[in-house]
Amino acid sequence: MGMVTDSAMVVSAHPLATAVGVHVLQRGGNAVDAAVAVHWALAVVAPWAGNIGGGGLMVVRSADGTVHTLDFREMAPLAAHRDMYLDEHGQPISKLSLVGHKAVGVPGSVAGLFTAHDSLGRLPMAELIQPAIELAQSGFTLTALEAKELNAKLPGIRSVCTRPNPFTSKVQWHKGDTLRLPELASTLIRIRDGGVDGFYRGHTADLIVDEMRRGAGLLTHADLTSYQPVWREPVKGNYRDMEIITMGPPSSGGIVLIQALKAIEDMDLSRTGWQKAATVHRIVEAERRAFADRAKHLGDPDFVDIPSERLISKEYMAQRMSDFDCHRATPSSAIHAGDPLAESEHTTHFSIVDEEGNAVSCTTTLNASYGSGVVVGEGGFVLNNEMDDFSIAPSVPNRFGLVGSQANIIEPGKRMLSSMAPTIVTRQGQLFMVLGSPGGATIPTSVLQTVVNLADHGMSAKQAVAAPRFHHQWRPDTILMEANAITTEDSLALVKMGHTLMVRPPIGRVDAILVLPDGRLEAGADPRGDDAAAGY
Ligand code: DON
Repeated sequence: MGMVTDSAMVVSAHPLATAVGVHVLQRGGNAVDAAVAVHWALAVVAPWAGNIGGGGLMVVRSADGTVHTLDFREMAPLAAHRDMYLDEHGQPISKLSLVGHKAVGVPGSVAGLFTAHDSLGRLPMAELIQPAIELAQSGFTLTALEAKELNAKLPGIRSVCTRPNPFTSKVQWHKGDTLRLPELASTLIRIRDGGVDGFYRGHTADLIVDEMRRGAGLLTHADLTSYQPVWREPVKGNYRDMEIITMGPPSSGGIVLIQALKAIEDMDLSRTGWQKAATVHRIVEAERRAFADRAKHLGDPDFVDIPSERLISKEYMAQRMSDFDCHRATPSSAIHAGDPLAESEHTTHFSIVDEEGNAVSCTTTLNASYGSGVVVGEGGFVLNNEMDDFSIAPSVPNRFGLVGSQANIIEPGKRMLSSMAPTIVTRQGQLFMVLGSPGGATIPTSVLQTVVNLADHGMSAKQAVAAPRFHHQWRPDTILMEANAITTEDSLALVKMGHTLMVRPPIGRVDAILVLPDGRLEAGADPRGDDAAAGY
């Protein structure tokens, strides 16, 4: 069993961010206050994904059962256009949507944190941001994994940076080195003192726009001042005796998760067995169909009509599974969208429950590790490369191999389709799980397998997040699996059914909290990273 606490818990990708969150809870802050403080702290101590230059999604369930979901996803700059990453022959220009200034979407995180805090927080914002300011000033010690991540990104950052910055101040980083971010501290102080305007207007905005000018990027003052987070309707569905509460569009994560859960619900997975061929086959065929729908139907709900209710309905998924053959893989070429979509993990999820029973599930991202590699000159923070989550041309896969269509083409002011799935699960109206993951396309499947591990395979939270995972996303038509996720015998059985299997590095990095039958909280901090749980 993982760490167990009596009443409050924070699980995040970094022990210092977790400690900041627990401290806020101990001082009388609620789960939203803690989430805001953890997000600020992650922007410092987990700069590969924690951010102020990116965006995220937050699901909040108050102790009284009220649910709020906040979209602070980046959006396309006003000067963006459909073919901006294509050459004169209509071919994608290598890496243009991924590396450098043109890959950057309008950041949403700072506005998102203020919006969440204004509506649902309790402690003054200045108190919540202060620990991050101090961490940026004093610096923090890199773990082996963090040094490795940063070293891997150094050539990319060097190739696009227009000013000196702390990340490239060393030739190579080592475990135990101290990373200090004084310019980021100054930016955070401007935000502390100026609120949202401390980022979207004034000096910080000038620094961003100057950086864009030096690197031929698109972001302007008008992009920054027009950015607005949006409270969205949550997506909800049942799985067995549980209610899944998760993020709707512009993320595909929640819809894909619920579609796939609906498609496996009729099978008794505790009987077919954990990671046995029949179980894997069923989940893969469910994911194949859900991802095909993602590619066709999902995008920013402010720009496209999405038949969400229909997509997650039991009847629709029954119809989608009507050609399921329990002995044969259905080739992806035979699956089309219905009528009514090798990396380490470079986004970050955290889960929080406070002593009153309020819960926050939040996933935040720069997209790739260190995003576009662009560090805002004198601002000290990294900008995202979220633009790659748009469909840059029909059937051109993005960095996650995801293909899309009209629904996810680039339009000015539009949000790019996400796969993030911050999720809260209840049982008999009571809080049961808080969970989510990084991992791009593998996010909904990592969340799904964690739910299934807990609900169907009787695992503890610790076991459920640690258990090896597999993934299928319709295209490519391959089951990706972590080494040892599926036994040789079951792998051979799956190959006989017509599946192709491929081993890849870690899938997902799930940080979860499970409410035990006696009301205590069990942490599931993913051992794939430096993730840490703490509470009281
Ligand atoms: O929003 C999304 O789905 C992606 N930009 C998330 C990126 C991610 O999880 C990176 N980790 N591998």
